[in-house]
Amino acid sequence: MLFWTFQIMNGKDFLGRMALQNGATRYCIITYGCQMNDSDSETIGAMLAARGWERVSGEAEADVVLVNTCTVRRSAEQRALGRISQLQRLKQLRPEMIICVCGCVAQQQGQELLRRAPYVDLVIGTRDLARLPQLLGEVDSTGKKIAATDSLSRPVHYEARLVRPAQLKALVTIMYGCNNFCSYCIVPYVRGGEVSRPKSEIIAEIRDRVSNGCKEVLLLGQNVNSYCNGDVDFPNLLAEVSQIEGLARIRYITSHPKDASLKLIERVAELSAVCENFHLPAQAGSNRILERMNRHYTREDYLGLVREIRSRIPRAVISTDLMVGFPEETEADFNDTMELVEQVRWDSAFMFMYTPRPGTRAEQWEDSVPMELKKKRLAQLIQRQEEISEAKNQALIGHVEEVLVEGYSKRSRKQMMGRTRGDKVVIVPGDEQLIGRIVSVRISGASAHTLFGELISGQD
Ligand code: SAM
Ligand code: SF4
Ligand code: F3S
Repeated sequence: MLFWTFQIMNGKDFLGRMALQNGATRYCIITYGCQMNDSDSETIGAMLAARGWERVSGEAEADVVLVNTCTVRRSAEQRALGRISQLQRLKQLRPEMIICVCGCVAQQQGQELLRRAPYVDLVIGTRDLARLPQLLGEVDSTGKKIAATDSLSRPVHYEARLVRPAQLKALVTIMYGCNNFCSYCIVPYVRGGEVSRPKSEIIAEIRDRVSNGCKEVLLLGQNVNSYCNGDVDFPNLLAEVSQIEGLARIRYITSHPKDASLKLIERVAELSAVCENFHLPAQAGSNRILERMNRHYTREDYLGLVREIRSRIPRAVISTDLMVGFPEETEADFNDTMELVEQVRWDSAFMFMYTPRPGTRAEQWEDSVPMELKKKRLAQLIQRQEEISEAKNQALIGHVEEVLVEGYSKRSRKQMMGRTRGDKVVIVPGDEQLIGRIVSVRISGASAHTLFGELISGQD
């Protein structure tokens, strides 16, 4: 196996000792899905690094391969399962290799995944991650296959402070799970109910990251507006985080429109580190569909929220998620969504075709919109939204934007890529000395997804 002797004295120390005795174990992580999974993959990496393990980029050189999966849509689940099945061949060549599936497909399928993919060794649920090193040790020493997915309804186990890699931008989970049960959504079933992390832990984690070079933090939760720990609510948390010296930018995702309060908008307006960037998933423009989705707001509520934000923060950048083809979505319902697109004029949108998810309320309803029609509606929606995104970006030409430079652009080593406070990508001529700096850029060109500009001064 991985050359460890089996001697569990204390599950947590076990792998660290073996790795020290036997040289570093090599692991790789393949990550799908949302920022929650990105953050969990970082946690996994930090837990394994603490035990002396070495991260490698490809599964061919890894002793342990972890696949962190997403199941929000059928296509995401299929992508993850397809990737897992590709590992079968590698396992035949190297039977000692350990394959571990984690994330939302793991939570959804549990033991069933071991039956369907017998070459998988460990299936670990979304709330069992802290046990990963111990369970890997057990799998390795006993040769047993394990599905550990039973902690979903238990309180979250907060792992001890972990050293994460130095990064300019950090993901920090502020809450786990979701209580909303939107009728189409599998997330509450695979991530469990809402649990907010204590403020002290969040602040300590961000301070660590900042002392390690982080300038921007993205606070993560399925509905950050319902963050609540003791007497700390989300606007209060924002105020506390913005006190952290050296932290230039604070973002957060996702903000459920039903819970986005005036207090939140006021905090964003007054706290200079909090970016004027609102991701408010609308999902649909028809009140009938919104009700069936169990979203708890109407299109009028949504429009009122957007008006409030724009009147208090004229520079606010607002984005959304939209879905087409929800059960019983008529042409008139779809037109309501198209009309909402015209009324709000979002800066950008993630747009999806509805697919039924197991266990959800909507799964019991007929998936009544034919695939061809879903595709047609999605194409129409994307086309119109892209035009609006482009027009909104072009309206920024001549304006000066504050840009945090992140690295080289994809196309050239002479051009750098950064983001505005509104999270828009900007390409600017420059070199690596700009990386990590906040600079002023005059916008000179724009497409639907990218701004182009000239550096006018260094700012920090
Ligand atoms: N918590 C966020 C919220 O309240 O909007 C969204 C989280 S979900 C992971 C991301 C997006 O996936 C949703 O906003 C929705 O548009 C989309 N989504 C969720 N379930 C879906 C389904 N069954 N079919 C298609 N898209 C779905
Ligand atoms: Fe899913 Fe709704 Fe929760 Fe978002 S708020 S994760 S869409 S159930
Ligand atoms: Fe995220 Fe996908 Fe799970 S969107 S919460 S990784 S189902």
